[in-house]
Amino acid sequence: MTPEARREVLVPADLAGAGDRDPATMPGRVRPVDPVAEPAEEMDEIGLRPRNLAEFVGQGQLTEHLRIVIEAALKRRQPVDHLLFAGPPGLGKTSLAGIVAAEMGVGLRITAGPVLVRAGDLAALLTDLQEGDVLFIDEVHRLPRSVEEILYPAMEDFKLDILIGKGPTARSIRLDLPHFTLVGATTRTGLVAGPLRDRFGFVGRLDHYEVHELESIVTRSAAILGVPIDVDGARRIAERSRGTPRIANRLLRRVRDFVEVRAEGTITSEAAVAGLDVFGVDELGLDKVDRSILEVLCLRFGGRPVGLTTLAQCIGEEPDTIEDAYEPYLLQQGLLQRTTRGRVAAPRAWAHLGLTPVESALL
Ligand SMILES: Nc1ncnc2c1ncn2[C@@H]1O[C@H](COP(=O)(O)OP(=O)(O)O)[C@@H](O)[C@H]1O
Ligand SMILES: [Mg+2]
Repeated sequence: MTPEARREVLVPADLAGAGDRDPATMPGRVRPVDPVAEPAEEMDEIGLRPRNLAEFVGQGQLTEHLRIVIEAALKRRQPVDHLLFAGPPGLGKTSLAGIVAAEMGVGLRITAGPVLVRAGDLAALLTDLQEGDVLFIDEVHRLPRSVEEILYPAMEDFKLDILIGKGPTARSIRLDLPHFTLVGATTRTGLVAGPLRDRFGFVGRLDHYEVHELESIVTRSAAILGVPIDVDGARRIAERSRGTPRIANRLLRRVRDFVEVRAEGTITSEAAVAGLDVFGVDELGLDKVDRSILEVLCLRFGGRPVGLTTLAQCIGEEPDTIEDAYEPYLLQQGLLQRTTRGRVAAPRAWAHLGLTPVESALL
């Protein structure tokens, strides 16, 4: 790592005046667990979304299961069973919800756990569904308890219990709901309350993608965006995308900006590497936040275990964000270890930062 890059890690991003101001990676902001792209990029993201199973790259076993579930439902002329998708942000959960609706040829309604504050919010959505529709609830683990309780009979019996009136004269009536498919998404299945999890007929876990899979995602996205790219250029971007399609697409846009301004216009291997370096993405795909997590563990705490909350405070992120968005990749890459006493930088992290592990780090 160059001294320049090192400085970038140590200076908080707010002060660094970074050009790449992705609000989703700015520290010190409360943001949804699933990072949302800038408005313009959000539009791009919609355009890049795979629309059917054939366009959805990777997750072989999961898509195979889904194919069977969907085909069987179509054959029986019934809605698909309720589905739960779990996995870190940016791996394709929202895309899959859309794909299920598209493959079934039904409507899609999208909402999210934190948005459904009162039971009535969900009731309004449910009663507005058409027969067979897909209702997608993102961050389903963040549904308030009172809303969750409405969901149980709705999922199981397609009934809605509503309370009319107040006090001793209050009475409950049951409404019939259309048969719908609930698709829930969560960053970790462990966060979903047991009774809710049990009501899903199928739980699909999404894993980080292989480099060759990301390569084909990058190639497809470049074609949609109309950016010339060669095989090696796509590979460089894929290698640094932390196993995550959303990041692959985001890096592709950054490199596109770079080649339009500084290079010939085609994304070659050299252009991709130069562009990604400019934006502080290193050869493992780590960005400033990833690196500052490792720096805090190695330098500030000298290799001792650090609790999640402390770690979060040190780098100005939410603990949830660290656990959902950053940690899975660091763990998968063998850069970070979770111990009962806290998070510890693994030997590979020291090596990556060009540091020699101190005594206490060798547990
Ligand atoms: N399997 C895939 N094949 C192609 N593109 C994908 C795939 N999974 C995700 N993407 C891309 O990544 C972006 C983010 O995916 P999304 O479904 O929103 O992830 P999640 O809901 O899990 O956070 C999508 O807009 C899409 O462009
Ligand atoms: Mg999503």
